[in-house]
Amino acid sequence: MTSVDTMSGESLRNAMVDRIAADHAGKGLILRPEVEAALRTVPRDLFTPGLPLEEAYDADASVLKKVRGAETVSSVSAPYLIAEMIGQAANALGGLDGAHMLEVGSGGYNASLLRELVGPSGSVTTVDIDPEITRRASACLAAAGYHDVTVICADAEHPIEPIRRYDLIIVTVGAWDIPPAWRDQLTDDGVLVVPLRTFGMTRSWALRRSGDRLVSESRRQCGFVSMQGDGAHEMRYLDIADGVHLRLDEDQGVDHDPAVVGALLGQPREEAWAGLSLPPVTVLGDLDLWLATRLTRETHFVVLSAQATAVSSGIVAPGWRFGTPATLDDDATFAYRSALRWTDRRFDLGAYAHGPAAAAAATRMVEHMRVWVDAGKPTPRLHVCPAHTPDGDLPNGAVLDKRHSRLVLTFTPEEKGTP
Ligand SMILES: C[S@@+](CC[C@H](N)C(=O)[O-])C[C@H]1O[C@@H](n2cnc3c(N)ncnc32)[C@H](O)[C@@H]1O
Repeated sequence: MTSVDTMSGESLRNAMVDRIAADHAGKGLILRPEVEAALRTVPRDLFTPGLPLEEAYDADASVLKKVRGAETVSSVSAPYLIAEMIGQAANALGGLDGAHMLEVGSGGYNASLLRELVGPSGSVTTVDIDPEITRRASACLAAAGYHDVTVICADAEHPIEPIRRYDLIIVTVGAWDIPPAWRDQLTDDGVLVVPLRTFGMTRSWALRRSGDRLVSESRRQCGFVSMQGDGAHEMRYLDIADGVHLRLDEDQGVDHDPAVVGALLGQPREEAWAGLSLPPVTVLGDLDLWLATRLTRETHFVVLSAQATAVSSGIVAPGWRFGTPATLDDDATFAYRSALRWTDRRFDLGAYAHGPAAAAAATRMVEHMRVWVDAGKPTPRLHVCPAHTPDGDLPNGAVLDKRHSRLVLTFTPEEKGTP
């Protein structure tokens, strides 16, 4: 590498970290000083071979995507998200110095940051199911001078050999369930940070082990490529219009004709507004889980996702085009959380609906939003219990039965500041 390249790499790296710090501040999060120092130290460009420096240091982009068919199966994750997830882990453990940790999903960059953070008395092991990825990660780690990261090729659905326990497991691939191996490989009060799909929406949860259960301490909004191997779980999609999809995640019995639902989008829409004035840092990812747990009792809860072109053409105007809460009634009435309505840097929440009972569906959704705000914007807490747990031993909340676990979402009144 020439000195000119080194200079520009370093200044681009510092600009990337400045942007991550500003992004954290905008979300009401704190970028821990040691995480910031690690981000300023590790040369990300050594983990993105062949990419221009500007792309290697884009704070918001996942890069080096490996695609199979229409699906991305691997990437080097976006730096802002890696920083948020490491922050979740460090907050839960009160710092990472001396921690023994396992990363699921390799790339090398995240493992190097963690290697910096755990220090000489800690250890980092990273596992990936894809031999091409572990080969590349090993080569990049060696090139960057990180010789003491253990790289393993295996399906992390199962216990990782040699069997041992970790203070921290960070999963960097989208999971639908928590395999028992992850819980069992944690120390007694160890922490699992995992992007987990519930109701078709992914959050990075920091979960602390307590016996045979895990309970969340924080959550962040995120998106990840899906887990492969024995833990893979297919999502169903209804393509209702050009670039507009409904995601069905929990093996729901929805058998609507997508063309019928799509045709409704061409008809005039009904709107309902909550009449609120909320500050920009309001965590709408929490509201969306609240809506899922409430609406699922009343109708089919689905998630709307839309291409940018579908939004710009005006077919749909969702709150978040990568995954917005929506409902599909038996008569095909379709409603979703709409784009926000801004006035003087504050916003109102609304719903748009199409179909025979559109006005009622939009009003129903907005009513749940109002209740969430009136209740003090409760935050979700995720409890992961073993599959055999009887109903009577579950916390009181919305239960999702997965393959290995019974997940329960409860809500607690909003704490001061984001955890
Ligand atoms: C987003 S990438 C990981 C990014 C990486 N941590 C980094 O530093 O940028 C997700 C990886 O998870 C891997 N993966 C998917 N299913 C897996 C499984 N069952 N066990 C282990 N790795 C898996 C994929 O091969 C892919 O490389």
